[in-house]
Amino acid sequence: MSEARQQILDLRRQLNEHNHRYYVLAEPAVPDAEYDRLYRRLAELEQAHPELISADSPTQRVGAAPAAAFSQLTHATPMLSLDNAFDEEEMRAFHKRIGDRLANHLGDEGPGADKIAFCGETKLDGVAVNLRYEDGVLQSAATRGDGSNGENITANVRTIKSVPLRLIGEGCPSLLEARGEIFMTREGFRELNRRQEQREAKSFVNPRNAAAGSLRQLDPAVTAERPLRFYAHGVGVAQGAAAMPSSHYAILARLREWGLPVSPDTEYLPDLAACVQYYRRLAESRPRLAYEIDGIVFKVDDIALQERLGFVSRAPRWAIAWKFPPEEALTQVLGIDAQVGRTGALTPVARLRPVYVGGATVTNATLHNMDEIERKDVRVGDTVTIRRAGDVIPEVLAAHKDKRRRGAKKFRMPETCPVCGSAVARDEGEAAARCTGGLFCRAQVIQSIIHFASRKAMDIDGLGDKLIEQLHAAGLIENVADLYRLRAEQVAALERMGDKSAENLIAALQKSRRDIKLERFLYGLGIREVGETTARNLAARFATLDEVIAADEERLLAIPDIGPVAAKNIRAFFEQKSNLAVIERLRDGATWQSRPRDAAQALAGLTFVITGTLENMSREQAKEKLQAAGAKVTASVSGKTDYLLSGENPGGKLDKARALGVKILDEAGLEGVLGEGR
Ligand code: IVH
Repeated sequence: MSEARQQILDLRRQLNEHNHRYYVLAEPAVPDAEYDRLYRRLAELEQAHPELISADSPTQRVGAAPAAAFSQLTHATPMLSLDNAFDEEEMRAFHKRIGDRLANHLGDEGPGADKIAFCGETKLDGVAVNLRYEDGVLQSAATRGDGSNGENITANVRTIKSVPLRLIGEGCPSLLEARGEIFMTREGFRELNRRQEQREAKSFVNPRNAAAGSLRQLDPAVTAERPLRFYAHGVGVAQGAAAMPSSHYAILARLREWGLPVSPDTEYLPDLAACVQYYRRLAESRPRLAYEIDGIVFKVDDIALQERLGFVSRAPRWAIAWKFPPEEALTQVLGIDAQVGRTGALTPVARLRPVYVGGATVTNATLHNMDEIERKDVRVGDTVTIRRAGDVIPEVLAAHKDKRRRGAKKFRMPETCPVCGSAVARDEGEAAARCTGGLFCRAQVIQSIIHFASRKAMDIDGLGDKLIEQLHAAGLIENVADLYRLRAEQVAALERMGDKSAENLIAALQKSRRDIKLERFLYGLGIREVGETTARNLAARFATLDEVIAADEERLLAIPDIGPVAAKNIRAFFEQKSNLAVIERLRDGATWQSRPRDAAQALAGLTFVITGTLENMSREQAKEKLQAAGAKVTASVSGKTDYLLSGENPGGKLDKARALGVKILDEAGLEGVLGEGR
């Protein structure tokens, strides 16, 4: 064998193995860069020796030219669909049906309903495919189609890295049709939509549509760029292998040995109770899974029992899909309102015909901002898909233009605030339009108090949105400082309040200002761009509120995560006399959690690079100072560098830092981050 051929085979083996470790075993052995290096080497060798290229080479995933249309392929055995169960009762009814049927068929030889074991699998929300392997090599891939014939999407499926082009391991069948699902992970979906937006191309509504759309491409080069994955969940035919296992769970394990990825959430379930538990556990972890699922599939595990049970029309009697409550639903937009938030931002909110989705009745869904409304072209009267997943605010995903009635009205952002009548302005480069009324605007005042009282801010027990509105309407509070002047009898006089709940509220208020944590207080002030993380970073850097108030822009900019916009907002907030007056009143009577300023922690987690000649100290001294404050000092600028400390004649590091957007400090800036005089 020639040396080139030997090298090519060796590289293919290595690449296939890395791929297998990554997609099937989920245990990558090398960084992506190493994979890329091997791949490039293989591609070079194959280019030099085109006679050695074979269709199952990892370089041949994107080979085919764009097609004019998809041809049809016939599956060796039909691809079935599944019956559904929508609640536990229906699941139990399914179980009873198969128990009864087996008892009638098998009489005393039957396993008894309580002994039927199942294989539990996630019901992936993607596109079903049939992969045909002949002598271990991928020959074709087809969609389910009508169950008997599907579209030939081989060229596209070949581009999906988790689909092996050649099976591995012992005892591969000479003919195998493996069935499974092609899907997109949530992360892949988000990344794809980010790219689509950058290219000003249409974004996808959900991972399922994105997967289906990606497979329907006539040009496999487009599919190749889409983050598609594959999990196998069954077998159509397997011929010429050593005998196949007699358990579905074991068959999936065998597919995995042959190099086909199987969902890691697949489980052997000995009885119905285990099935119910499995369902509940996955329903609970559903929002955290890497991919979307719309239910759980239960399959009788014993293949002999499956054969006895057989099929009705297109679905097996031995399997069921127990669906989760859907997270998406269709409904109609009755109107669109602009809601004023704490910072004055006007958020367009769709008022909906009530619809039950994701386990709750939804009547409102956010449209985010004007750009989003235009991008999705949502109009009043439209039929829309809305989504409510976990405790995320419901949102409008898409409008169905084919269902649009005549007279569907476009939304226009009001020119004056719907609450206070002040002018609405939208700054250059900003997504949000804002009410300019500030504290004159009732909506902004109420929202800012709600924010101050919220769990992540001052966490005032029992002070909810409705009560805040009531207190404001009664003229008892105009700003957050007024909260601490409230007296129990004033609160008790409000509708639906009694003496006891009034006293509880006063106690909760008093408690909230004992031992205040600076970071919670800063977050609670509701300064634009100061979220939890920034508030925490501010509190880590400054010992007291006075220090934060006094910090100039330069010192603020030296704090991790704080850029020019946040620094300006923070300065502007503390320069406003009315804000300082409220803060003064809030402090009167409050106590603060004592927190010794920990100089060693001030720069913890930050990475610095030093370059050029410093004026007042050597580079070594600067390095010691930085390290004493907890920073890491490294030799070269990379994406991980937070700051470049730059003196005279800085050289190439300065250019690189600029190119990477690394913050650049001079000596004065260094004093800033270290905190002068400390
Ligand atoms: S088995 C003989 N298992 O659901 C049973 N299907 O409603 C045939 N699906 O067309 C299907 N995850 O696209 C099976 N773990 C899973 C599945 C699954 C998703 C899809 C598949 C099928 C549809 C049936």
